[in-house]
Amino acid sequence: MAKVTDFIVIGSGVAGLRASVALAESGADVTVLTKDKASESNTEYAQGGVAVVLSDDDTAELHEGDTLVAGAGLCDEAAVEVLVTEGTRYIKQLIDWGTEFDREGSDLIFTQEAAHSRRRILHAHGDSTGKEIVRSLIARAGVEPNINLLPFSATESLIIKDGRCVGVRYLDPILRAPREVFAKAVILCTGGAGQLYQHTTNPPVATGDGMAMAYRVGADMADMEFIQFHPTALSVEGAPRFLLSEAMRGEGGILRNVLGERFMERYDERLELAPRDIVSRSIVAEMRRTGSRFVYLDMTALDGKFLRERFPKIDETCRYFGLDISQQMLPVSPASHYCMGGVRTDLWGRTTVPGLYAAGEVACTGVHGANRLASNSLLEGLVFGARAGEAALENASFQMSGISEPDLAANASGPASQTGIATAVRKRVKRLMWERVGILRDKASLRRAITEFEQIASSGLSTSSANFVMLALLVSRAALWREESRGGHFRSDFPESDPSWRVHSVQKMSEEITGAETVDFDQNRL
Ligand code: SIN
Repeated sequence: MAKVTDFIVIGSGVAGLRASVALAESGADVTVLTKDKASESNTEYAQGGVAVVLSDDDTAELHEGDTLVAGAGLCDEAAVEVLVTEGTRYIKQLIDWGTEFDREGSDLIFTQEAAHSRRRILHAHGDSTGKEIVRSLIARAGVEPNINLLPFSATESLIIKDGRCVGVRYLDPILRAPREVFAKAVILCTGGAGQLYQHTTNPPVATGDGMAMAYRVGADMADMEFIQFHPTALSVEGAPRFLLSEAMRGEGGILRNVLGERFMERYDERLELAPRDIVSRSIVAEMRRTGSRFVYLDMTALDGKFLRERFPKIDETCRYFGLDISQQMLPVSPASHYCMGGVRTDLWGRTTVPGLYAAGEVACTGVHGANRLASNSLLEGLVFGARAGEAALENASFQMSGISEPDLAANASGPASQTGIATAVRKRVKRLMWERVGILRDKASLRRAITEFEQIASSGLSTSSANFVMLALLVSRAALWREESRGGHFRSDFPESDPSWRVHSVQKMSEEITGAETVDFDQNRL
């Protein structure tokens, strides 16, 4: 039998948990669906920290300015203003809720990361900031009796009735069968799609299902071509691409090529703290120049005790792979890390589909523009998660009548899951994305990738594989459309930025890609 609740939140990272608390505080019933255990999300693995204006020498204007510069002319200024001005309040609230950011005595410690003009990054337990935030948010959500969190419940599709999102279909882990749940509104907080690439810092759950589900039911997708590649993922044969936080460079880490030369001065005067896209491309250039598969992150000039205390998780992981961070240089290479684009929303998380909201990495508010400023994503999840919850509450006049015959036409499922095929499809897509839609792209590589993805897509896939290939197509088509280089999108055949491309790509099912001045859109047209 179908379940009915007031609101559905999909995902239990920082955005999902914060949205759930905002909803539950009003007394509403909230069902939170998450496809793994509650704590498994991109948030959990965020190391470096959360950027916030809290130190005496900092201002919202400075944070806003840094965010706009990193965003390479494509941030929506209104969204950035919301982020930096409201962020401080939400971080203070998080501290009140028990989040333990690192302190010296009673004073918060702020670290430095690339493209920040001030030391404004808070961190927790050294390099486990996301984990600490998730811990405290799960504890806060646990205080709300109306939040019903369903782990290991993968959402398969969104249910649309008369053009409105009225619920979801998910796989019940106990019944091992699809089940429907209906609500006044659905908030997508499903995170990003780093797993689209062969090399990624993201956990296995980051497959972008939420983006694909939203696109399938007609939501606009914006800026899908902008993928951030983190410059320093551990590059050890056979090991996962474990993130070596940018904060390591913030604390004085140096990049050297395999010949031992410090090379960033050849590429950017900001050296190791240049924006991530520049550092990643510089590393690729050095790897090509020296015929190597990696460069080194050199922390050996720093005090060993300091490093072990400041980066305990990284120290532990490197030791596991036989590396002492204070004694040895660490092999690193870039890996996909963050999607700047996603489901197009306004400043309150409203998508172009009534009843459907989105917040966090799955969404594109325009706050990150073409390139996200380091450590702005946890802040985004908090601020826009809370706002999406508040907006869903305010607009929840929808009465759940007549939902017994949901219009599932737009949610047609593919054949039952075929695990072996799914694994092979994913492997092939990830490789193609890395080789042809990666850090450097051009018309020929993108066209070849699109042709292959279209062939794979027509070969009768399970729903999850079809979603994965569709996302690959969304990124590739937008990357082919944008004939310039900007932020996380670098076209070798159009290496310069072009002011006439200062627009957002917008993709909608069965329509050509268009350019839009802002990500935000006129709600009256809904
Ligand atoms: C890092 O610690 O380098 C990642 C932080 C982020 O992506 O903002």
